[in-house]
Amino acid sequence: MRTNQQPQRSSLDPTRRSLESQEFEASLRQKIVGQEEGIRAVVDLYQVFCAQMCATGRPVGNLLFLGPTGSGKTRIVEAAAEILFGDPRAVIKLDCAEFQHSHEIAKLIGSPPGYLGHRETHPLITQEELAKHHKENLKLSFLLFDEIEKASDALWQLLLGMLDKATLTLGDNRRVDLSQTMIFLTSNLGGGEITDMITGGMGFVQPGHKPAEVLDGKVERTAQEAARRKFSPEFMNRLDKIVVFHPLRARQLEQILEIELDMVQRRLLDTARGQFLFRVAPAAKAFLLREGTDLKYGARHLKRAIERHIVYPLANLLATEQVRLGDMLCVDWDEREQRLIFEKEGEGAVLPVAVRTILSANDQAAGATGGKPTEAPASVAAREAQAPVALPPVTPIPAPANRRKNDT
Ligand SMILES: Nc1ncnc2c1ncn2[C@@H]1O[C@H](COP(=O)(O)OP(=O)(O)O)[C@@H](O)[C@H]1O
Ligand SMILES: [Mg+2]
Repeated sequence: MRTNQQPQRSSLDPTRRSLESQEFEASLRQKIVGQEEGIRAVVDLYQVFCAQMCATGRPVGNLLFLGPTGSGKTRIVEAAAEILFGDPRAVIKLDCAEFQHSHEIAKLIGSPPGYLGHRETHPLITQEELAKHHKENLKLSFLLFDEIEKASDALWQLLLGMLDKATLTLGDNRRVDLSQTMIFLTSNLGGGEITDMITGGMGFVQPGHKPAEVLDGKVERTAQEAARRKFSPEFMNRLDKIVVFHPLRARQLEQILEIELDMVQRRLLDTARGQFLFRVAPAAKAFLLREGTDLKYGARHLKRAIERHIVYPLANLLATEQVRLGDMLCVDWDEREQRLIFEKEGEGAVLPVAVRTILSANDQAAGATGGKPTEAPASVAAREAQAPVALPPVTPIPAPANRRKNDT
């Protein structure tokens, strides 16, 4: 018997993301400037993982990042690790240039039994290593192959297997399961062509050169074509997505400067002796941008300028005790002398107040994403909250997680 009642229909919104993905995305946007497509690709994968909809027997996802040097390809993976696991180094990162010869492959998978030097070579990719940063509610791992255009044939063979079957067989025949792993591959392929295209081979952007959209399209085609020329179809077919990172524009470098200066401040607040505040006047920022803008090396050049002109001098001031706990410093630009000047603006009591201002400003920024701090890792937030506000006395604080030896 038919009932007259029609099943009730209500329309659904398949574009809406879960709260955890929204928070992840908002945090990523605070760390990565521009690169919209890259952010979307990483968040999409995370959403698929959270919904437990990954295909069985495959990695969570295989993403290839193309585009010029210093545009954020490696950084986006580290930033995602920092947000999700509280540590930018929660990534197994392999520099493909280091695995050119067959004996170097042994560094990756360990040597087979009986192989010369067997005991000494521990594989870099193991199940334990992948699980090292797992959290109770997040059993996800990140694997990053940097600059894959430099990989040897032997590495390619391994890579193809990992991308396709989500397994890796180690030298001693143990199997590593990569089905809970996101695999990221980066390549600067086409980077030189892209730089030439933007600068017209002149090394700098010519005023009124070409509209941004036209250029963006060309950048994308150039990178994709370079990849198709270099990489085999069987490799390209195993990728879930190819994302082209764009050269950074002046406005974006300005934003990166702010992020990097903020990171320097955090580094200072994390040291036992260096808990003082500094601000950089607009004229000094303009100088850093002039020094740090280089189309060939993207934001890498800017980071170097900050190290040289801000971090080293601050370290000197600290080491010679010209600045002390609780001081407030201003970095300005002396037009006549054409150099940066460092001046003390206040001392002692200023710190706890000023730090609270900074922290509450950060909280307000976090408020935009639903009231929760966007810097997800509680450990980081707790450390930051404790360190500056609990002054004095000062207890030594471990080196910050975001300090790395090199940033290539
Ligand atoms: N889009 C970006 N947003 C924020 N920081 C960036 C961005 N691009 C580059 N950087 C900064 O420059 C550094 C070098 O970028 P990286 O990601 O290593 O470049 P590559 O694209 O060559 O992998 C990063 O550590 C980061 O500090
Ligand atoms: Mg890189």
